[in-house]
Amino acid sequence: MPRATVTRRLHFNAAHRLWNREWTPEENDRVFGVCANANYHGHNYDLDVSVEGEVDPRTGYVLDINRLKAIVQEAFVRHVDHKNLNLDVPWFQDLNPTAENIAVVCWRVLVPALRPARLAHVRLWETERNYVDYAGE
Ligand code: NI
Repeated sequence: MPRATVTRRLHFNAAHRLWNREWTPEENDRVFGVCANANYHGHNYDLDVSVEGEVDPRTGYVLDINRLKAIVQEAFVRHVDHKNLNLDVPWFQDLNPTAENIAVVCWRVLVPALRPARLAHVRLWETERNYVDYAGE
């Protein structure tokens, strides 16, 4: 049976501030620069979610891409879209909302939500030039 990887891109907007509570304001400013700005700043994030599996001989699909979109929307995007990640989203109460950490949280939420489909990879674009890939530990 041929195998393939299917990817859906979703979009969300969110605000954040990069900050380590254990550090002084000076250390935070030195490490995170403008990203530590006290009054937060926003990003237009793009999220590419890839699922890998056998191509079903009846449908010709690995997974219906509309179902993939609906699952990602329900399990992850609706919790972060138009939110302040530091203040509004419990996942980031004690976790610095860097692109890396957002990608890891996304992975952990999507693995069970997508079963029995197999999540292969998430790619989180924080800007047009920066992205983070995560595919599990
Ligand atoms: Ni930022």
